[in-house]
Amino acid sequence: MQCATCTGPVNIAVIKYWGKRNEKLILPLNSSVSVTLHQNELRTKTTIAASPNFTKDQIWLNGVEEDINNSRLQAVISAVKRRARKRKSDGETNPRLNWKLHIVSENNFPTAAGLASSAAGYGCLVYTLAKLLNVKGELSDIARQGSGSACRSVYGGFVTWDKGTNEDGSDSKARQIAPHTHWPELSVLILVVSDQTKHTSSTAGMQTTVETSELLKQRLSGLQTKEDQMTDAIMNKDFKTFAEITMKESNQLHAYNNIHEDVKVSYTFDAGPNACLFMLDSEVPRFYSLVKHFFLPENGHTTIQGLPITEQTLHTEEIPKFKLSKQNGSVKYVIHTKPGPGPQVLEDPSESLVDDKGWPK
Ligand code: DP6
Repeated sequence: MQCATCTGPVNIAVIKYWGKRNEKLILPLNSSVSVTLHQNELRTKTTIAASPNFTKDQIWLNGVEEDINNSRLQAVISAVKRRARKRKSDGETNPRLNWKLHIVSENNFPTAAGLASSAAGYGCLVYTLAKLLNVKGELSDIARQGSGSACRSVYGGFVTWDKGTNEDGSDSKARQIAPHTHWPELSVLILVVSDQTKHTSSTAGMQTTVETSELLKQRLSGLQTKEDQMTDAIMNKDFKTFAEITMKESNQLHAYNNIHEDVKVSYTFDAGPNACLFMLDSEVPRFYSLVKHFFLPENGHTTIQGLPITEQTLHTEEIPKFKLSKQNGSVKYVIHTKPGPGPQVLEDPSESLVDDKGWPK
């Protein structure tokens, strides 16, 4: 039996991918830009085992066996195998490429609640299978065929997915524009509102938009400029511009920023209800104490996950300015994280998700 175990990150888009020009190859209508989040807080872990003793390919996600015949899963598995076969040294004859696979994957965060679990899942699966089959080089074009946003999760830091123009999708891939260490002062808070599975998948949601939305056409016409401005903002660590474009990409909510007469916090929503907020480290304690006052549960629950936040005394004189009523409990907890690196290989066998016969532990 051969085995590989890796972890892969979630990414949050600041210029969103929304709409496809090719459903099958998952080619987007527009280029997008994202921040890869740190795996200490949010990560998928995947073990893939290959053995001549396995009778069929099987996959388990978060402890439940899922359908391996899912067309997107099949597309990425075949694509990695094709690339492995292409390698001169191996050729078609390597029998290991015909061994059946056991794929076991677990998230340490709520699945499908808009926390980009398909991105982390497919990114990590492709990376792990490539490691197992010794495939080197570009993987984002393969991860893209699992879930569009997954192509950005094979890189760390700040990432662009170039939409590409080729019909076969060969130039639709992601690239890193800056590593996670580029902007160390940037913090990310995720306000977890719901950890229930979302009702509409991104795939279905974007199909409806493409079919019905006049706004989408308008959006696409101005997007190249926005993408260039976003890239410049990241390169120059210009928080104000970064934050403003991120929020224009989402909808309107300016209370905190207006009160401070500056842009201190930026928010973005994906397809789920959880808010993802970007801010500089210096703003985290003050912002958190307000979230705690207005939105977090009051009865002594643990409300921070991830990096610690030194709780500041609430600036009580500020509270009335927000014109908000207290809705304690509407946000369940806050995850504090940072930009982080791309997928990682775990060499320690104790990290494996399968036992010595290749079955989920
Ligand atoms: C709102 O990548 O989940 O998170 O390609 O159909 O699998 P499929 O969609 P998916 O869509 C993500 C959409 C988004 C924005 C983004 O991540 O860019």
